[in-house]
Amino acid sequence: MSPDCDVKLGISETHAACPSCGSLLDIDYEWDRVNVPGSLREFETRWNNRRNPADFSGVWRFRELLPFAKEDQIVSIGEGQTMLRGSASIEQFVGLDTNRLFLQYEGLNPSGSFKDNGMTAASTHARMVGAKVAACASTGNTSASLAIFASSTQLFDVVVFIGSGKIAYGKLSQSLDYGATTLQIQGDFDDALQRVCEACEKRDIYLCNSVNPFRLEGQKTTVYRILEGLDWEPPDWIVVPGGNLGNSSAFGKALAELKQLGLIDRIPRMAVINAVGANTLYQIYEQLGVRWNGGNVDDAKIGQFFAEMDAQKRRASTLATAIEINRPVSLMRCLRALETCDGVVRQVTDQQILDAKAIVGAGGFGCEPASAASIAGTKLLREEGVITASDRVACVLTGHLLKDPTATVSYHSSTADQIDDRLREFEVDTVPHANTAIAVENDIDAILRVLDGN
Ligand code: F0G
Repeated sequence: MSPDCDVKLGISETHAACPSCGSLLDIDYEWDRVNVPGSLREFETRWNNRRNPADFSGVWRFRELLPFAKEDQIVSIGEGQTMLRGSASIEQFVGLDTNRLFLQYEGLNPSGSFKDNGMTAASTHARMVGAKVAACASTGNTSASLAIFASSTQLFDVVVFIGSGKIAYGKLSQSLDYGATTLQIQGDFDDALQRVCEACEKRDIYLCNSVNPFRLEGQKTTVYRILEGLDWEPPDWIVVPGGNLGNSSAFGKALAELKQLGLIDRIPRMAVINAVGANTLYQIYEQLGVRWNGGNVDDAKIGQFFAEMDAQKRRASTLATAIEINRPVSLMRCLRALETCDGVVRQVTDQQILDAKAIVGAGGFGCEPASAASIAGTKLLREEGVITASDRVACVLTGHLLKDPTATVSYHSSTADQIDDRLREFEVDTVPHANTAIAVENDIDAILRVLDGN
């Protein structure tokens, strides 16, 4: 993806980075050889043919926009059946006018997170190249997704690398139950990612982290579904949490391509939301002012940033464990996406994240902590006036509520006087939206007294 590098690799190559310049790879299509529909509306006709897995899939029904596989090569488990919905109470919480906030519920995917959008594409490519074993490092959702694709298709074995300690139980339970070999590395996600890249190279294992450009092809489809939910009229903003930055990168690529193909006339702005405890993108983009700059990125500034991080031994730390990442692998791609989308980056505290999460639960389908960063970020951008009350805003809710029951129960079991220790550790010390369970005797009169409000 470096603008100065013109190395081209074939579809059956499996490099994690360009063998010549070392930067991440990009899938580049010869669009004049693809039969792309003249209007996005034409994709809707596939809803009538849901017995064909490639039409049922919310990823592959857009297959002409990710045309690297033939239809009979597609590996699908019914991913991408997600939807866009409004919510009056969440809209009010963030400060938007009526019918201006839209929530894209990616937690409705088979493994409960947006990762299935990309994993169907990576699994398809893994099958195309005859991979026998696939691996990834993960804060929990990528591993759950890869594990479900392997268990459900039986196409390859899976090894997942997770950091020790922080992974949410819902996610850990998935990779264990789906039968993935699970390596708990003594270190964090950033360590696990480095080790899995080394292991894949040394043992000819197919790497499924988002360094794999095919994953991002699948992740582009969230954007298509947002547009579809809005009757193909682009919103003013798309707001997405930022961790390893694969999703935001994929969104930027999707939008640039749609514009290039003449399928949309306007690109929405994008806001990427970091947690304060894992805010590399925020610091690099907003504080150091580093820009993609047509590909001429100020590498020295970024190098110095990471050198200081290492010297100070700074480690990512947030209750939103999914985005607890300090070395986002798709940083450069994301800078490019921010340029495409005239983007902004914000950071939100764990307190803001958990408060927003409780509002999402009480006014919608619920989500895991990292996902609520998009709601907390929208609220912040409204307060700053960057997003105006009449803007149409699509927030991506990346993961299901049940992924991290510990965080949810810790919040709702806390009271103003007694905050759960786990929350305190992350400086969450108020619980304005807690819905605490009411203790009541095993006695019908006592229960009725509670029901009657006495
Ligand atoms: N939200 C959830 C629920 C996630 O699981 C992740 C990333 C993100 C947001 C951030 O997305 O990395 O594309 O910027 N989870 C990865 C994992 C890192 O291993 O499951 P991103």
